[in-house]
Amino acid sequence: MKDNFDVAAYVAARQQMINEALAAELDKAAQAAPPGEGTERLLAAMRYSLLAGGKRLRPLLLLATVESIGEKREDELAGYLPFACGLEMLHTYSLIHDDLPAMDDDDLRRGRPSCHKAFDEATAILAGDALLTHCFFCLLSTPGSSAVQVLQAAQYFAWKAGLGGMVSGQALDLAAEGQPLELPELRKIHANKTGALLEAAVVCGGRLVGSSGPQQLALQGFGRQFGIAFQIADDILDVVGDESKLGKPVGSDAENDKVTYVSLLGMDGAKQAAVEAMAAAQNALLLLGEQGWLLAALADYFCQRDN
Ligand code: IPE
Ligand code: IPE
Ligand code: MG
Ligand code: MG
Ligand code: MG
Repeated sequence: MKDNFDVAAYVAARQQMINEALAAELDKAAQAAPPGEGTERLLAAMRYSLLAGGKRLRPLLLLATVESIGEKREDELAGYLPFACGLEMLHTYSLIHDDLPAMDDDDLRRGRPSCHKAFDEATAILAGDALLTHCFFCLLSTPGSSAVQVLQAAQYFAWKAGLGGMVSGQALDLAAEGQPLELPELRKIHANKTGALLEAAVVCGGRLVGSSGPQQLALQGFGRQFGIAFQIADDILDVVGDESKLGKPVGSDAENDKVTYVSLLGMDGAKQAAVEAMAAAQNALLLLGEQGWLLAALADYFCQRDN
């Protein structure tokens, strides 16, 4: 860790950069979309969910990796913001669909009524669809890297966001509701539904700046383990969190009969598992040497969160 590094100030500055870029991306898209009442409603729902706050963890990790591995200065990050925005769009779509009655059936997200509550189910499904597809429009509009680097990163992300990761993880999560589950299976669910996007955020950041094979392996190991630690913390907050800080319902997992780290290992066991996954994440970063300190600081910061 660098002396005197203020991680909270760094996160706030990057969040502002990301929030401004997200709003600008939607404004640009809105100007080019076919006009009409339906499109207006769709865009309103997209803005509602995307610009509602959120920690912006995935774009933060991508930018931090670009800064660390690519040794980019702050004023060079604009070239990577479209990619960062794409990651947040895809994540937000996953949250909108995750909250639908057919999935976790949750009415609160990012401190306000879930998209399907504020609008309606059909609009929420379409807002998710449009954020998912616009993600790839943004990824492929990244000016900071060569076309080959952008394609390789986008291809990796497409796999990790879908069958190779997040969507399969969500399918496994739903299929496991009410089923007896052993720890390795639960770990697989967490690694996919949550770990895959966090892993992809750092691996894509590396790919955009030409990371070496060993660096890719370190980023992958870090992202995977941090993703598991992050979802264990999410399971813990679902039990002991404060709804007004979390901005989403507490007790959703129990209501849906989900097996979680807390239900399987108890609160102390879940905390211990999170500590172990975080230690493994930090360990993976050692392979990056000097270049790992920023990701290490961010992982620590977000594991101690209360939202
Ligand atoms: C929530 O993600 C869903 C999980 C994968 C745990 P975040 O905790 O990153 O949610 P936001 O983006 O800050 O709202
Ligand atoms: C969902 O996990 C992960 C996603 C892919 C959205 P959860 O269902 O536990 O996420 P929250 O608690 O609703 O944010
Ligand atoms: Mg869920
Ligand atoms: Mg949920
Ligand atoms: Mg949860």
